[in-house]
Parts: sequence; C-alpha cells; structure tokens
Amino acid sequence: MFQSIRVGGTGRDTLVVGYFQGQAFDTATAKLLKQVDPSGAAAGALKRPESTGEAGAIAEAFGAGKGDSTRILVVGLGKPEALDTDAVRTLAGTIGRKLAAVKATGVQLALTACFEKAGLDLADAGQAFGEGLGLLAWVCDEFKGTAAKKTNRVKLSIRAGEGEFDGAMARGVDLAESANFTRTLSQTPPNVATTGFIADMARKLARKTGLSCKVLEGDDLVREKLIGLINVGKASENKPCLIRLEYRPRGSGNKKPAVLVGKTVTYDTGGLSLKINNGMVGMKRDKDGGCAVLGAMHAIATVIKPRRPVVALLAVAENSISDEAYRPDDVLRYRNGVTVEVTNTDAEGRLVLADALCWACDKEKPAYIIDLATLTGGVVVALGSTFAGMFCEHDGLRAKVEAASKATGERVWRLPMHAEYRELMKSPIADILNSNPNRKAHPIQGAAFLSYFVDEKVPWCHLDIAGVHATEKSAGCFIEGPTGWGARLLANLLENDTGR
Ligand code: BES
Ligand code: MN
Ligand code: ZN
Repeated sequence: MFQSIRVGGTGRDTLVVGYFQGQAFDTATAKLLKQVDPSGAAAGALKRPESTGEAGAIAEAFGAGKGDSTRILVVGLGKPEALDTDAVRTLAGTIGRKLAAVKATGVQLALTACFEKAGLDLADAGQAFGEGLGLLAWVCDEFKGTAAKKTNRVKLSIRAGEGEFDGAMARGVDLAESANFTRTLSQTPPNVATTGFIADMARKLARKTGLSCKVLEGDDLVREKLIGLINVGKASENKPCLIRLEYRPRGSGNKKPAVLVGKTVTYDTGGLSLKINNGMVGMKRDKDGGCAVLGAMHAIATVIKPRRPVVALLAVAENSISDEAYRPDDVLRYRNGVTVEVTNTDAEGRLVLADALCWACDKEKPAYIIDLATLTGGVVVALGSTFAGMFCEHDGLRAKVEAASKATGERVWRLPMHAEYRELMKSPIADILNSNPNRKAHPIQGAAFLSYFVDEKVPWCHLDIAGVHATEKSAGCFIEGPTGWGARLLANLLENDTGR
C-alpha cells in the first residue's frame, strides 16, 4: 500500500479531520479549519450525503488556505462511546486506504481532540493508529514475476503534531512491522519456506536483534527424545527441528522465562491420512503459530524489551508422505514417558507440540507457557475467523491473555477443559491416542491431548488460531491473506508482564 511510513515530516498535501456521527466539528477542529480552509470546503463536505458519520465514512474537500491547495479528508468517527482503540486501528486502515488511493505523501492528522473527547488515552490511540497503518502497508510481492504489473507506491509521512500521539504512532508502526514479518513468512510458499528456511530465518532474526538461537536437529532430536518431531517429519526430505530462541535482559538473574511455543508445520499434507478434496490447499500456513512466535520475538527484542526473559520454542516439521512416513497405528513414546497411539497422521500438530511442551516443562523452568497453533479445523467451525479458541485453566495467566487480547484486538474465546475430554483421548493400546475417531469436541480434543504434556503446576494457555491466522477478505487494516495473528498479542502480553 505504501512504500514506507514515517511519522513526522513537514510537507502537507492532505489534512485529515474527524467528526462524530450527528455532531458538528468540535471547537479545536473548527478553529484549525478556519485557518487552513477559509472557504469552508470541509464544512461543505460535511453536509454531503456521503458524510453519514459512520466510522470510516470519508468525504473529500479541497481547501485553499495559505497559498497551497490542500486535500481535506472529512472522516466520520461513529459514536464517541463506540470509539475504542480497536476502532481506531480499523479507522487507520480505512483512512490509510484512502491516502494510498490519492497518493498522499505528507499527511497532517487532526483527530486527537476527538480521540480525547471519546475518552481515549492519546498514547493508546496513537499506537493503535500506527498499528493500523503499518498493518495496512504490508505487501509481499516477492513471488511476483515478469508478468505482473509493478505498482508505484508512495512514501507516506504522517503526523498529528502532538508528541505523545506521534511517538506512540511510530511505536505502533514498528509493532506492525513485527506482525508483518509474521505475515511474510506465512505467505512464503512451502517450496521456499522449508524447515531449513525457517531455521535460517530464526538464526538471522537472532543475529539482527541480539537474541540467542539454537537449532536441534538430526541426532539432537534422538538424544532429546523429541519423538513427535522425528515421526511427523520423517517422510520429508526437509528435516524436522526444534528451534529455541532466547531473550534475556540484563539483570534478569534467575527470573523464570515466559515460554512461547509455536506449531510450525511448513506443509501439512495430512501424511498417510492424506487430506482430500482440496483440504490441502493453504496448508503452507500450518506454520503460522511458529511464525507468530517469531514475530513476537522480533517485537520483544526490538520494541518491547520486557524485564522478563522469554524463550521461544518452534516445533518445525513438514508432514509429508513417503515409504518412510509414520503411520496410523504407530505408537510413540514421549520424553515424559507418555505413550501415544497414532490414529490419524493428520493430527500431527499436537504430536510436535507435545515435544516442545515437554521440553519447556523439563528444561526451561517456565513462569508460564503459551502455545499458538493452527491445530484444528474444528475451531474454525466453532468460532469462525472472529475469535481464536483459548484454553487456559489458570486464572492469572488467562487474565493476562485476555488483557492483551483486548489491547490488540486479537480476540480470544475461552473453550472448556474437563476430565471427560481427557478421558476421550485414552487409548486401548497406548496411554492416549492422537485423535478420537468419533469427532466429538474436536478443538477440545487437541487441547486435552496437549494437556498430557504440560506439568500441572505450570500455568499454560493453548491458543488454536486455525480460524484467525488468515482472512479471505480485505477489510479494515487487513488485506486478503495472513493476519499475523498473535505476534502483537504476545508482545503486548510481555509488555505488561512485570516479570515478578
Ligand atoms: N493443520 C490442520 C488444521 C487446520 C485446518 C488448520 C484448517 C487451518 C485450517 C491440522 O493439522 C489438522 O489436519 N487437523 C485435523 C485433525 C483431525 C485429523 C483430528 C482437523 O482439524 O480436521
Ligand atoms: Mn493435519
Ligand atoms: Zn496441521
């Protein structure tokens, strides 16, 4: 959408003013317009039928003040009581689309008076606005070739002129960049984004941002009994690995880390329980849990810099088929002693996540664990693309996740956990099976399975993001494709974690 976004600048070809539905311009806006728009073009635009006042309704006017002809976007803000940070983020997307369409390069925002009137904190509003613009700006044309038309994108500079808002807006743009990193990885096709490619990206990220990075592969996996990764990844020439990234701030001593775990299946064919009827298309995005964790680590290392150490664990494998593939009926013995009867090789995510969860409890002394995974089609049936499924029985951790969810607009909905669901996963042959064929409570089965690999004393939250990691429609600050879901939520959560 834009080639770049810079907060600041002095040039101005476009002025953005706002008004609440059914209301006139507030006094601050009216005063400003008197100077820059003496002919009253904006007031005229406010009377036109397109100025419905609904959030994101935009009418254009051309002022002729102080010599330069200025484009004025007169933007409806909806009702003040509905204008929260999430609405600001979406509004930024809508305004950004218009700015890109008219190829604006220097923009003056005159919205802060309205934001304050709606009771918004200017720093929160500024950050949300920056995030919205930054998310909208995401482009991934790396895979376009000579048959595609090159689009000329403009460099946008934008400011409100209020330090607090502008500083926060710049921060929001930076946070969006972390989420956009997640989206670009998600978009990268499976013949490029192989398991080795993901490991390289993690190493590169670490080098660039000062994280430490270790990749366990080959014999390391055998030695560490990472049996899920070994088996799920067996049939592919792209070998599985466990990636461990660590952020450790100075002076954090023996503070326990937050552990972020991501399902990173670079392609999910279903394995021998092969996906049929187009069910495979799009499964390049089965790595999005891990990609979100990488985006979060980017934000943590470059923007958030929390006081608590953070460990990221990516369980990376390609679920493919060959004569070496793991099979339905195989029994796997995990490093915590739990044995698993494989009933369906397409329930592979939980098998690789189990390794990472065991490892985390065993080796990392975690303060808490949050895992993100495109785990089940069932969660898409249940919640669509509106909420991620959240499983968390620890009140304190759940409150943290819900607060981060509210702040970032990445919505979560709690789903239940109960002994009966764990019962559902019992196997007549091994301890548990990886999928109960009766298809009851599918997303919950996934969580119930994972619970066998988490120490009861460790606060744990499982987020099933299969419905929210990508979108089919272009709306608000997103275009069709990956959303980067989770990168901002995890970053925000760590920002507000005092680390005690
Ligand atoms: N990666 C899929 C889940 C998925 C589905 C993600 C749709 C994104 C969109 C997962 O590995 C899977 O295949 N799940 C199966 C589990 C079943 C075989 C127990 C499912 O949900 O159908
Ligand atoms: Mn699968
Ligand atoms: Zn999968």
